[in-house]
Amino acid sequence: MLEIRLQKFLAHAGVASRRKAEEMIKQGRVAVNNVTVENMGLTVSGNDVVTVDGNPVEVEEKKVYIMLNKPVGYVSTSKDQFGRPTVIDLVKDAGKRLYPVGRLDYDTSGLIILTNDGDFTYRLTHPKHEINKVYEAVISGFPEKNEIKRFESGLKIEDYQTSPAEFSVLDRKENNTLVRITIHEGKNRQVRKMCEAIGHKVLTLKRIQVGPIALDNLPEGKWRHLSDKEHKMLY
Ligand code: URA
Repeated sequence: MLEIRLQKFLAHAGVASRRKAEEMIKQGRVAVNNVTVENMGLTVSGNDVVTVDGNPVEVEEKKVYIMLNKPVGYVSTSKDQFGRPTVIDLVKDAGKRLYPVGRLDYDTSGLIILTNDGDFTYRLTHPKHEINKVYEAVISGFPEKNEIKRFESGLKIEDYQTSPAEFSVLDRKENNTLVRITIHEGKNRQVRKMCEAIGHKVLTLKRIQVGPIALDNLPEGKWRHLSDKEHKMLY
C-alpha cells in the first residue's frame, strides 16, 4: 500500500470525513504504532497500526472481479519458472494485485476469472461445487457415436475416472471437427486427455463459459469487470 496522509487513511477506512479526522488527530485520539500523533502531516502505509481511542482501524481492500480472454501463449499462474508471459501481465491496468481462479493451459485460450478475493477463489475452485466449464475444441478426425457416448458417460484418464460430460459436434472441416464440450471438473489437461482417450487429438482449445459467465465477444487479450449480476450468479 502507498504512503498516504493519516487523515486520508482514516477517511478511506470510513472512520470519519477528512476534516473530522483532522480534529480527532488534534484531540490526541489517534495513535500510529502505539505513539499518539501530534504531527498533522504524518503519512502511513498498510504496515502501520493505526488506532483511534485505542481501537485498531482496518482498511479492507476493495474486492475486484474480472474476466479475461486469455490468448494462447500465456501461463495462468502469477509467475512462471521459464519466464513466459503470464495472465497477470494482461491485467496490470486493473490496478490491483489479482490472482487467477483456476487454470488454463499455456496452449488454451479463452475465459479466465481473476480476483483479489481469496474466499471467492476457494469456493469456485472447490471440487464439491462442480462448476460447469464449457469449451470449444477443434479435434482431429471425426468422432463416432460410440466414442461420443464413452466421452459423455465418463472414461479413464490415467488412473482417474471422469464424471459424466457433454459433447456435441458443431461443425465438420476437411480433416477435423469443431466440438463443444462441457465438463464439471478441472483435472490437469482434462479436456485434452479425454479427447485423446477416444482417439482424437485436441488441435485448439478455447474456454467459452464458466458456470453462468460467458466470454461472448470480449476481444482476445482484453479484460472487463464482472457485473454485479454475474458476481452474484457465481456465488
Ligand atoms: N482442459 C484442458 O485440457 N486444458 C485446459 O486448459 C482446460 C481444460
